[in-house]
Amino acid sequence: MRGPAAYTADAVQGALTSRWLGRPLVWLDVVGSTNDEARRLADEGAPEGTLVVSRTQSAGRGRQGRAWQSPLGGVWFSFILRPSQPPTPLLSLACAAAVCAAIEAVAHRPARIKWPNDVVLPPELRKAGGLLLEGRLSGSEQGGSIIVGIGIDAFVDVFELSPEVRDIATSVSDEDIRADLLVATVGELERRYDELRRGDLAAVRAEITDRCVTLGRQVVVEWESGRVEGTAGGLDPDGGLVVRTGTGKTQTVWSCTSCTLLP
Ligand code: BTN
Repeated sequence: MRGPAAYTADAVQGALTSRWLGRPLVWLDVVGSTNDEARRLADEGAPEGTLVVSRTQSAGRGRQGRAWQSPLGGVWFSFILRPSQPPTPLLSLACAAAVCAAIEAVAHRPARIKWPNDVVLPPELRKAGGLLLEGRLSGSEQGGSIIVGIGIDAFVDVFELSPEVRDIATSVSDEDIRADLLVATVGELERRYDELRRGDLAAVRAEITDRCVTLGRQVVVEWESGRVEGTAGGLDPDGGLVVRTGTGKTQTVWSCTSCTLLP
């Protein structure tokens, strides 16, 4: 039986089955943030599908301006999209679904989306990955571009992470599955993005709903100017979380600073 492929540019390049995503592949040993490098390349005119992978990041960024710890062992990458029109707000959840599918295929364990953009592993629902989408739809000489950044704790020793992160994080595997996981994730991402681009939203929506572990749970959602507590009843057509409060009102939230699942 063959062991996991080495996590090298050649191994990944040779195994990619995608048509446009990951072509070209930019492979780095260390960078501040792959999102920043992809943005720089996009602004210089790099084509849609350009994939920037770095074995570590020295200044990885998460949502809400938080730092993202990126030790060796993780899969840290960003790619460039150049949509001809503003993409569906479902894009981020569709990418999270792609990561879940890849984890299931490669690591043979279930993976779920925790709204709005975490990838978590049952049964404890610890976080194994996250997404950071940064868009510029116009105003650049090269036309609009979106950077999709994805971090997966693929083969990370969680004791390398700071205590606050370690308490909620997990690693997908205790084997070095990085190459296989990256290749599978790229394939799953390309398939879903092609579906969205064709306007085939129904299947993507159904998958997101099915994979979203937040639904049916008691939640507290907080954003800069407010908070709502109640039952996460469903997702609206754009991927917003519909929360039913104790008084019977419903409120839909599209972005948040935190979404806590209550026991
Ligand atoms: C989050 O859950 O807060 C989002 C984390 C996104 C991390 C990835 S790692 C690759 C890319 N480069 C970054 O600086 N951030 C994203």
